Amino acid sequence: MKFNTKTIHGGQITEKGYGAVMPPIYQTSTYSQTSPGKHKGFEYSRTHNPTRDALEKSLASIESGKYGLAFGSGLAAIDAIIKLLSPGDEVISTNDLYGGSYRLFTKVFEKYNIKFHFTEMNNTNSVLELINPKTRLIWVETPTNPMMNVIDIKSISKIAKSKKILLAVDNTFASPYIQRPLELGADIVMHSATKFLAGHSDVILGALIVNDDQIAEKLYFIQNASGAICGPMDSFLTLRGIKTLHVRMKRHCENAKKISEYLTENKNIEKVYWPGFKTHPNYKIALEQMYNFGAMVSFKPTGSNFNKAVKIVEKMKVFTLAESLGGVESLACHPASMTHASIPKKMREKSGVVDSLIRLSVGIEDSDDLISDLEQALN
Ligand SMILES: Cc1ncc(COP(=O)(O)O)c(C=O)c1O
Repeated sequence: MKFNTKTIHGGQITEKGYGAVMPPIYQTSTYSQTSPGKHKGFEYSRTHNPTRDALEKSLASIESGKYGLAFGSGLAAIDAIIKLLSPGDEVISTNDLYGGSYRLFTKVFEKYNIKFHFTEMNNTNSVLELINPKTRLIWVETPTNPMMNVIDIKSISKIAKSKKILLAVDNTFASPYIQRPLELGADIVMHSATKFLAGHSDVILGALIVNDDQIAEKLYFIQNASGAICGPMDSFLTLRGIKTLHVRMKRHCENAKKISEYLTENKNIEKVYWPGFKTHPNYKIALEQMYNFGAMVSFKPTGSNFNKAVKIVEKMKVFTLAESLGGVESLACHPASMTHASIPKKMREKSGVVDSLIRLSVGIEDSDDLISDLEQALN
């Protein structure tokens, strides 16, 4: 199956009861048994649920993986990955990453004696320099949030494989329509499916996809043992969202291109961050590993500061000022006070997340309306 067919049919079976085309929402916690241990494959919904099962198979299919796992949120999915590690282990992570991932790493897992190193990964040497016998995991977010750096997954995966280190990629910003990390050598793909996968700003859900049998077994164990699973209704909504992923992403990318070009030509803008520009420092890698450039765009207005940036996002009308991204509606965010507020100012600014930065998640409205909205907010 090609990708656009996988989004609709990948891993799906015809429902046995009535031939329902969409998997029913199996809103049940438990399943009847004819004798202890004798059942139809499901015994308790933390462990397995048919609606979640359908979603997990779809996730595996669209990410070119063997196994999919769904969680109650993106952070719950990341939490499960870090639980593969033991006290004393070390992780090397992108320094420009979602603030919540940073918070989970530093405020929750450092207490359990797992050490995190944060570095820019544009140059693979910076990763090599941090590797030591305790390194167990490399955490890559690409494109990075919110600076849109593109990290070379293939090169990092070569390093990881040669040192027997796991490579996990947060593929939330790209979605598998644009980038499929398992095909590039990653061991684990993670999604905040809350974003482009579900696509309609109506669900919080996380996903992991892997190929390796042993990693899958360990993650399924953690999923069941820790219990951070998603419910059947949210599984259904995400599965429904995935069915239109390819058509939504096509429009998202077209609109983001137009908006990035508009912003670059606007005299009130100092810098636009979008990996589709030939001048973007990682343009070559983006061309190689991504099928398109995505719907996320960040920019710095000329001579702006914290207050001016806040005023601009407040003035927007079609772009909604909100946390999150990846829905059909366009959103604007001020990372310094919102998504990245949990990262200390000094560290945040080192990776480029200055007080004047504004991040856009470009939706699928008419691009003329989006551009007019930016025009009135910026002038
Ligand atoms: C790149 C990235 N990873 C992970 C997460 C966490 O996902 P969730 O909010 O579904 O827990 C987010 C949320 O914004 C994100 O943007």
